[in-house]
Amino acid sequence: MQDPLSIIHSAVGGDEPFYRLVEEFYKGVEDDKILRPMYPEDLEAPKERLALFLIQRMGGATTYSDQRGHPRMRARHLKFPIGLKERDAWLLNMGRALDCVSEFQPHRQVLEEFFTEFATFMINRPG
Ligand code: HEM
Repeated sequence: MQDPLSIIHSAVGGDEPFYRLVEEFYKGVEDDKILRPMYPEDLEAPKERLALFLIQRMGGATTYSDQRGHPRMRARHLKFPIGLKERDAWLLNMGRALDCVSEFQPHRQVLEEFFTEFATFMINRPG
């Protein structure tokens, strides 16, 4: 069976909607009392990394791995204390960001399942 995520990059017309998505996501992070302290002051590099990761995961160019190596996403998140509260805050911001980018609406269910599963996998602390 084809991975339903891998068609999204071409279905939304390329990279550009992903950059809009991460802009919206990080706008939310800027104002989020739980998440903001975890991120560096300058959010430009995190925006680029998240955009490139999502582009790669959804069937676009593999620039993320070319630049960063194997994603090892859980390992990369271990230095941030992520419990249920942090996961839910992340998902809330991503849900709001998805609301803002119309190209993703037809893929909403698949995206929400992916983000929920992935964010749950990132949990590395009780509580
Ligand atoms: C569960 C809640 C999550 C929290 C609190 C969280 C927090 C963070 C923080 C603080 C960073 C460092 C910022 C940076 O340097 O880029 C980061 C990096 C990153 N996160 Fe998350 N994250 C979460 C879930 C996710 C999910 C679900 C995804 C993808 C679907 C994701 C993808 C990434 C990527 C691609 C990076 C950059 C990794 C790198 O190349 O160094 N994160 N995350």
